[in-house]
Amino acid sequence: MPVKCSLCKDRNAVVHLEFSSMYYCEECYSQYFIRKVRRTLEKYKMLEHTSRVLIAVSGGKDSSALLATLAGFSDDVEILPFHIDLGIPGYSEKCREAVEELCKGLGLKPLIFKLETEGFTMADVAKKYKKPCSPCGTIKRYWMNKVSIERKVDLVLTGHNLDDTIEVLFQAYLTGSVHTIAKTKPKLERIGDLIGRAKPLIRHTDLETLYFSSINELPFVVAECPYSRGSRSIRRKKLIEKIARDIPNFKHTFLSTHLKTFQPLLAEKTRLPPLRKCKRCGMPASAEVCSYCKLKERILKHT
Ligand code: AMP
Ligand code: FES
Ligand code: ZN
Repeated sequence: MPVKCSLCKDRNAVVHLEFSSMYYCEECYSQYFIRKVRRTLEKYKMLEHTSRVLIAVSGGKDSSALLATLAGFSDDVEILPFHIDLGIPGYSEKCREAVEELCKGLGLKPLIFKLETEGFTMADVAKKYKKPCSPCGTIKRYWMNKVSIERKVDLVLTGHNLDDTIEVLFQAYLTGSVHTIAKTKPKLERIGDLIGRAKPLIRHTDLETLYFSSINELPFVVAECPYSRGSRSIRRKKLIEKIARDIPNFKHTFLSTHLKTFQPLLAEKTRLPPLRKCKRCGMPASAEVCSYCKLKERILKHT
């Protein structure tokens, strides 16, 4: 006998979420997913004082689910989908195409920035760095921020989910990275030219966004970035998944303890370095020259 949906009790279930012991049919699952995003937006006042948001869309399942959920969400908030074509051979083109197709279906016009216009691509970065994910993060954050300033955007939304967040916290607690612990939260307010950032999917697991994007047949790239294969963060995610198999609520408990107890305590005690203006590009920096300008200089010297 097929299991029935725990909500409508009528249609057959296609999704089972172990952490909540709930079963969902396709329709009820999509409604549940969207309601949970709305509740997260409200709980953390993510869209307060915001009239234009940039949604960073990678072409993966998470940011695609986020954009599809928020498109047409409110007449008061304008949405600007933003994609960075990183120039990763055999990968970036597929990601860009998925973003273009998704936006077309949603009736939105994406803003696409090609890293190659800077005179280098992630392929050049990967030749120089054995672990290119960290410089790649610098590049993404820089361009999300710069474009937001240029486009007068109040807030950047990313598709970081619960699994992404727990992986970062797991490592931060293990190594005592106090700054990371202090600044890992659902919404970071704007500080000067550093535009605020929020993660509306912070309470959704990897599997929850995968189910949503698949059920709604959203265009997204399944393959992972070739440069992140075998990376430590992917290995840590697998380890966390093993723990969650025995303790289904592990990730949720970790996040709520972090947000309720440790994050506020450490945020109070930790002073982040004051922000300066990069003397090359004028963007916010913690040193004389920002990390993006330093990275760009290093790469261009060797290409
Ligand atoms: P990742 O760092 O790849 O785990 O991605 C985390 C989030 O950053 C995604 O959910 C997106 O919101 C954003 N992001 C990642 N890559 C890109 C990209 N190439 N263009 C725009 N946004 C991106
Ligand atoms: Fe940045 Fe893979 S997407 S290294
Ligand atoms: Zn700079």
